[in-house]
Amino acid sequence: MNTTPEPVVDDPVIDMPLPPPGTMGPPEEYGRLRAKCPLARVRLPIGATAWYATRYEDVKELVADSRLVRPSITDWPPRPGHAPGDEPGLITMMELEGPEHAALRRALSEPFSVRSIRNRLPQIRRAADRLLDPFVSGDQPGDLVVRFIEPFPVMVMCDLVGIPYEDSEYFLPKADAALGAILTLQEGREATAQLREYIVALLDRKRREPGDDMLTHLVRAREQGAVDEESAVSFGLSMLVAGYRTSTMFLADAVLTLLSRPGAYAHLRDHRQLLPGAVEELLRYIPVMNGVVVLQAVEDIELHGRTIHAGDAVLPVLASANRDGDVFADGDGLDLCRTDNPHLTFGRGAHNCIGSHLARAQMTVCLEALFDRLPELRLAEGHDPIWEDESPSKSPLTLPVNW
Ligand code: HEM
Repeated sequence: MNTTPEPVVDDPVIDMPLPPPGTMGPPEEYGRLRAKCPLARVRLPIGATAWYATRYEDVKELVADSRLVRPSITDWPPRPGHAPGDEPGLITMMELEGPEHAALRRALSEPFSVRSIRNRLPQIRRAADRLLDPFVSGDQPGDLVVRFIEPFPVMVMCDLVGIPYEDSEYFLPKADAALGAILTLQEGREATAQLREYIVALLDRKRREPGDDMLTHLVRAREQGAVDEESAVSFGLSMLVAGYRTSTMFLADAVLTLLSRPGAYAHLRDHRQLLPGAVEELLRYIPVMNGVVVLQAVEDIELHGRTIHAGDAVLPVLASANRDGDVFADGDGLDLCRTDNPHLTFGRGAHNCIGSHLARAQMTVCLEALFDRLPELRLAEGHDPIWEDESPSKSPLTLPVNW
């Protein structure tokens, strides 16, 4: 927990930039901060302060810097008056470090590889069709987020990881409560304990009834001594709390982006060879990763003549790095034919996104399925999407469409 006093700095602490209301963003301040104050002090909506790094080169280095660790979402920000034992202690894969983390990454590299994900494409497409079948024949306008984009990544994740999809009614509200532990500590602690119990029981079941899934793969790795039980549990917990949310936000923003630009949806529908590049560009352009990655310094770090002290929180803003004009020509513009696209959406270094190939496959299949099943998809006139404007990273909560 952070006990280091706040460093004294010259320029004022600013409120964490938020996207303009009713939009996915990005916040308007990115450009100014990159130019004038690449390492700013920001106050987060939850009250704590952190360093906010916005330039591509800085973000690229910081996110892979071993002097920065990932504090547990229940340990940071520090809450005055809470003893360490009070915290719900939600340990996911991101908080694992050193040999345990490396062993778990090794054990999971095969099932998350490009080849394995490619072999799963038919299953991923079946999940999309299963959700779109009733949608296509339903009433218009229909809500594409609630009926398709929200459940789709959960269904895909459950199938690949080996979590019964029917159980999502049980774990989704608990995952929300665990993540909301910052607000309601008691509820968060209870939810975390229940999610843990659920994963422990599921791993046990995989021992008795093995399947063709990632948890079974981990159970075998455990039996061979390649990973320990705690690591397997933290992977399961990571999937329950983080294996689908980001995908949902990206998919909702991607579909909205295409439908809001005249001709973009139809162009991609009719030129499918552009899809791989377009998916990369959407991943770069969509600003969901606005201060989502929180790091904490374990030693002092000098940057731009300032000292990030041990204990300080650092937010490498991936979404701002992805718009940096020094790296991306017309960084704020969407160019579905962009070829050179070294975006940082999946992070970098030891903790980079292990699900990146899966996330790409989900976006590709989501768009292909929509092009095939709803070729005339369009935003429903007079029915605006609903946004939750408090959040630093945003996607529409509803997306009324006609087809
Ligand atoms: C568009 C969708 C996604 C985006 C943009 C995304 C982005 C990220 C980023 C930036 C990180 C690194 C965080 C850090 O440095 O601390 C990360 C980590 C991670 N992601 Fe993703 N992610 C996505 C989808 C997924 C999916 C579908 C899965 C799995 C089902 C997944 C599983 C993970 C895991 C387990 C980690 C932690 C890796 C580690 O600590 O070693 N992600 N993700």
